[in-house]
Amino acid sequence: MATKRLAMLAFFLQLLALSSSHPNPKVCKAQPGTKAWPSEAKWESFDKSLSGQLIKTVPPGAVCHPSQPSYDAIACPAVQEGWKLAKWHTENPVSVILDSAVNDTCLPDPKYPCSAEGYPIYVVNATTAEHVKKGVNFARQNNVRLVIKGTGHDYMGRSAAPNSLSIWTHNIKGLEFFEINKFTPKHCKVPIDKHVITVGAGTQMLEIDEQASLRNLTVVGGGSGSVGIGGYLTGGGHSAISLTFGLAADQVVEMEVVTASGKIVTANACQNEDLFWAMRGGGGSTFGVIISATIKAYPSFKFATVSVMFGAPVSSSDAYYDALTTIFEESPDLGDLGISAYYFGAANVSAADYGIPVPGMINGFIGGFMLPLIDASNTSDSLLTAVNATLAKAIKGAEDQFLTSVTETTFDDFWSWYKDNNGPLNAGFDAILGSRLLDRKSLTGNRATLKEALIVAPGNGTLLGHLVSGKAVHNAKIPGGSNAVNPAWRSAYVHTVVSSSWDPLDAAGREKQLNLNTNVYTEALRKIAPDTGAYINEADLYEPNPQKAFWGANYPRLWFIKKMRDPLDVFWCSPCVGNEGWEVIDDALCRKW
Ligand SMILES: Cc1cc2nc3c(=O)[nH]c(=O)nc-3n(C[C@H](O)[C@H](O)[C@H](O)COP(=O)(O)OP(=O)(O)OC[C@H]3O[C@@H](n4cnc5c(N)ncnc54)[C@H](O)[C@@H]3O)c2cc1C
Ligand SMILES: *[C@@H]1O[C@H](CO)[C@@H](O)[C@H](O)[C@H]1NC(C)=O
Ligand SMILES: *[C@@H]1O[C@H](CO)[C@@H](O)[C@H](O)[C@H]1NC(C)=O
Ligand SMILES: *[C@@H]1O[C@H](CO)[C@@H](O)[C@H](O)[C@H]1NC(C)=O
Ligand SMILES: *[C@@H]1O[C@H](CO)[C@@H](O)[C@H](O)[C@H]1NC(C)=O
Ligand SMILES: *[C@@H]1O[C@H](CO)[C@@H](O)[C@H](O)[C@H]1NC(C)=O
Ligand SMILES: *[C@@H]1O[C@H](CO)[C@@H](O)[C@H](O)[C@H]1NC(C)=O
Ligand SMILES: *[C@@H]1O[C@H](CO)[C@@H](O)[C@H](O)[C@H]1NC(C)=O
Repeated sequence: MATKRLAMLAFFLQLLALSSSHPNPKVCKAQPGTKAWPSEAKWESFDKSLSGQLIKTVPPGAVCHPSQPSYDAIACPAVQEGWKLAKWHTENPVSVILDSAVNDTCLPDPKYPCSAEGYPIYVVNATTAEHVKKGVNFARQNNVRLVIKGTGHDYMGRSAAPNSLSIWTHNIKGLEFFEINKFTPKHCKVPIDKHVITVGAGTQMLEIDEQASLRNLTVVGGGSGSVGIGGYLTGGGHSAISLTFGLAADQVVEMEVVTASGKIVTANACQNEDLFWAMRGGGGSTFGVIISATIKAYPSFKFATVSVMFGAPVSSSDAYYDALTTIFEESPDLGDLGISAYYFGAANVSAADYGIPVPGMINGFIGGFMLPLIDASNTSDSLLTAVNATLAKAIKGAEDQFLTSVTETTFDDFWSWYKDNNGPLNAGFDAILGSRLLDRKSLTGNRATLKEALIVAPGNGTLLGHLVSGKAVHNAKIPGGSNAVNPAWRSAYVHTVVSSSWDPLDAAGREKQLNLNTNVYTEALRKIAPDTGAYINEADLYEPNPQKAFWGANYPRLWFIKKMRDPLDVFWCSPCVGNEGWEVIDDALCRKW
């Protein structure tokens, strides 16, 4: 305790020294066109030091704009096509899936304006830890804003920024498999008693899952094959099998990391424990850059799914909301049976749009329920019985108003299900999400308020419920004892997600939707679960009190680690730990104090 206090004191003295060495309170990161920005010659020699891996950014949509130097009428249609899919953006050095994350600055459509404003100025196309290290050092030494892009899937817009240098980790590939007891984290004594896989930072979920399945192994992986490990592991990472094995962050036994000071270090339960703890849940691009991560893998298992649809005419909306409420209410009990689910409800939508064979507008529910068949007492029939009972309870007394459909399927392993049920995913729009983690109390404590929230939260859109937390998340056996995942996950069952979107460059529409998203849709969910929190990777960018919502009681320790590990704020993003001292003014990142 005494040493902790001393460290704290030393730290504050350091801060004091730091702030007194900056007499000008409005210190900003270097801006292009100013003396502070590195000269052409400097960028050139940086490129040489990287053996030519530095890319000068061209906005990817510019091929569709006759006014732009990179205009290419022949290349444009393929970019327009690709733009709509998440995968395309992962293969471009700067492109990201949300247009709103780059402020619509150069959409691949000549009817909109095009500038490079929303994008980084340069990109390190990193293929090695050395490249990343040089990138971090260059940014730190030249006071240039730094961002990290893996896939660009981030809904929070953390993987792109104006007037920055970006490190693109996509080409740091690699998959190495270790048998049980064959991997001992560096400087630890005890080997890991599971299969583990060391994956490079650029590895995407689909690649890991496929290679694992070829070896009869399964990993805790995310809902989209093109998601990368960088943002997923640092955010927490939920999965269709996290009820059985824990969150993705709980599977990490070691990370290789480039720190803000430019060191390549190994973080695990036996060394750099602070980084190891913080980088499993504390959020992306905040504490360091992951070069590789070593994660647990499990023997493959059969996997049963039941898909459920029900719909009712809009005139039966009360019966529909009652049914929807029951599904949410029953979710903790389903979760305790080991059943996970992804479901969504949509109000007043065209039945045809959802593949439901009735004319006109309906209120509809679609859900996929799943159960890993590991324990002998779990069968596809036990899943079906449990889901059937829930559905029957949901529509009880109003059966004649609903059209229902229930389909059961069994798969040889997780991969067999995953490969056909996770893509291709949409991209290329302006949107914002809202999240709330719901525990048993918020789901079963008050039916009337739950129902009210389920009516308000979807707005004119859909409400997603991810039943992806339960026993193994609540009682996770975490390497090193604990990690920085939002404590709210440890009692949650359902992660609810709302969303709002608007037309590109429609400033008024954007304002209106941001306001509805924060103050109406997400607020309805906060009201039923005021004491929980939200999932950092799929949440409201404007979440009030983000420190509490995303990290809860872990925040003070995370903040301290951030200040110790990155006192100069080489890494800065929003919403991210320890970002309070800065603000963005006209695309410049400046100190507030
Ligand atoms: C279609 C889709 C489906 C999804 N499904 C799920 C799901 O099932 N479960 C779930 O938990 N989440 C899911 N997500 C959310 C996902 O976890 C986040 O979008 C996550 O941020 C993606 O990480 P990334 O590295 O692929 O993305 P990026 O946008 O590249 O990065 C995200 C954040 O991590 C940082 N980062 C990236 N690489 C590194 C690195 N090597 N070191 C340090 N920081 C890094 C970035 O700077 C940024 O802050 C989904 C997202 C999408 C778009
Ligand atoms: C986004 O672009 C608009 C112009 O279309 C501009 O007014 C606004 O300041 C930009 N916002 C950011 C955050 O850069
Ligand atoms: C990134 O680097 C790799 C390896 O050198 C190279 O194959 C690839 O073409 C580069 N990507 C871009 C967009 O320059
Ligand atoms: C995977 O499991 C199948 C079926 O149990 C078996 O036939 C095959 O040999 C196993 N493959 C490996 C690489 O272990
Ligand atoms: C699955 O098995 C577990 C452990 O035996 C049991 O508690 C649970 O009820 C089973 N789930 C279902 C849906 O039967
Ligand atoms: C359903 O949407 C239509 C427009 O698509 C609208 O006219 C109607 O009022 C809506 N009904 C309800 C009950 O919200
Ligand atoms: C579940 O419901 C479906 C469709 O309503 C029915 O065909 C099936 O027999 C039910 N199965 C069980 C195990 O209850
Ligand atoms: C639904 O959409 C209509 C028309 O765009 C809008 O006026 C209304 O505010 C929206 N309602 C909600 C609850 O979002």
